[in-house]
Amino acid sequence: MNLILLGPPAAGKGTQAQWILRDFDVVHVSTGDMLRKAIADGTELGKLAKPLLDAGKLVPDEIVNGIIQEWLKAADPGKGIVFDGFPRTVAQAKALDEMMAAVGRRIDAVLSIQVTEATVVERIGGRWSCPKDGAVYHATNRPPRETGKCDRCGEALIQRDDDKPEKIVERYRQYLEKTMPLADYYASKGCLLTLDGTRDAQVVYDELTAALKAI
Ligand code: AP5
Repeated sequence: MNLILLGPPAAGKGTQAQWILRDFDVVHVSTGDMLRKAIADGTELGKLAKPLLDAGKLVPDEIVNGIIQEWLKAADPGKGIVFDGFPRTVAQAKALDEMMAAVGRRIDAVLSIQVTEATVVERIGGRWSCPKDGAVYHATNRPPRETGKCDRCGEALIQRDDDKPEKIVERYRQYLEKTMPLADYYASKGCLLTLDGTRDAQVVYDELTAALKAI
């Protein structure tokens, strides 16, 4: 089963991906995590991506397509894939269709998690992430057991550089302009499932898993 998690910043894509990973035989790929790692490691990709992430803009299609193409070649063919944050433009979606076909796979479902702009702002303001294993928490909605520490590995939690209020506005604008059209793209292929992401994360997950089991 190969899935795409679609939605605006802070819709809960990463949160749902962690649980899908726990419960299904899949691997997870997040272009946002890959780009942040490249920035932290100071690679050429990181140097190119940093000003774009800092400005809340998208990294050019050919660069992220290249990252995914390389990743796909090495992906375990026996496991499904959860794409998180990719594709983000129609050009990326078309490229993904071709890349998947080249490795004998296809996208089975696209889960579009819908939230309002007010929810985006509230959630991003309270988000804390683990830099080591990618676990995601929220100061009030989903706090870690011990303040400031990852439940899974004990690492000190951090707030992302691009989560500052002035950057959220641009990230959301980019989503509306460039990523929202993907819903129509996948609806026309008959694989789009839309979820109301403003509800409790567990409620969203229960609906998501019921939909996946019905595929
Ligand atoms: P990326 O890392 O993909 O960020 P994003 O899409 O903006 O999404 P987020 O990670 O902010 O949110 P999420 O939906 O995963 O929510 P989460 O589960 O963390 O991309 C970052 C940047 O990289 C982009 O801006 C761009 O520059 C670049 N980039 C990445 N991919 C690219 C691509 N393909 N092309 C070009 N550029 C690319 O949840 C958020 C918070 O809410 C958490 O605190 C969580 O605990 C809480 N929460 C989650 N669900 C719920 C719920 N149901 N109720 C209450 N709280 C909840």
